[in-house]
Amino acid sequence: MPHMLKEVLATYLTPSEQHRIYSAFDIIGDIVIIKIPKCLMSKKEIIGEAILDNVKPAKSVFIQTSAIKGEFRVRNLEFLAGEDKTETEYKEHGCRFRVDVVKAYFSPRLSTERLRVAELVRDNEVITNMFGGVGTYSILMAKKNNTCTVYSIDSNPVATELCRINAKLNKVEDNVISILGDARGVIEKQIDGKSNRVLMPLPEKAKEFVSSAKKALNEGKGTIHYFAHVGASNRKLGLHEGVIDTENAFKNYQYYIRQTRIVREVGPRLYQIVSDVCL
Ligand SMILES: C[S@@+](CC[C@H](N)C(=O)[O-])C[C@H]1O[C@@H](n2cnc3c(N)ncnc32)[C@H](O)[C@@H]1O
Repeated sequence: MPHMLKEVLATYLTPSEQHRIYSAFDIIGDIVIIKIPKCLMSKKEIIGEAILDNVKPAKSVFIQTSAIKGEFRVRNLEFLAGEDKTETEYKEHGCRFRVDVVKAYFSPRLSTERLRVAELVRDNEVITNMFGGVGTYSILMAKKNNTCTVYSIDSNPVATELCRINAKLNKVEDNVISILGDARGVIEKQIDGKSNRVLMPLPEKAKEFVSSAKKALNEGKGTIHYFAHVGASNRKLGLHEGVIDTENAFKNYQYYIRQTRIVREVGPRLYQIVSDVCL
């Protein structure tokens, strides 16, 4: 939350009201998405105008009116102020991404994890990103190491089309292959046994896809980045629960966990974790 905006909102809102706005504030390119609690909806126009006037890149402001939901992991947005458009360009780690904040999943809050994974990629790796979205992980990996090939799968046609556009925009269209379909079916029919590394960035459901992730690996061997949500009362316990969850998900296989880390807190007492699992 930009400092100037905090000062402006402080003239309209009490400290506890301000806190509720600050904790849910995303800037994606020139689009700002906020959550406004019911008790503050009567002040939404003032908040929208204050954001437009004080957040430098902001051209459009939306209120998030639902949780992230459904197979495509998208959310409902209510237009609040500025230009009523949902497409924008987001820049991260030297890459450019066309995103549509309503039609395909995108979160600016995973930028550190995307860089961490991208920096692990070695020369000539073949990678399957089972839930590739608009290409965030896939394109960054290819940009960091242009000897790798990434199969970026998604079941949302808008996401795979944006991934194709983004691969071109970042000049990695020869490295990133955007594939529309269910990850399970695509692996089985097209890219079975081809990869050294598999990404599973669908924490709500990754566990159901572990056997497909293993099928994607060359001779069943390689690294799987397994994402999950775990409930815990603090980060330390979250990490512990993350290890247990991973052990459970991979219990039918021979593996070791290179590391488990907390990616971010996604709700009260709910953490997103990632485990780097070697098979
Ligand atoms: C949480 S998003 C992550 C997207 C992307 N990796 C990112 O971080 O920006 C999960 C994605 O998985 C896709 N998805 C859900 N079920 C799928 C399935 N069975 N096969 C392929 N993609 C799926 C959704 O459309 C969504 O884009």
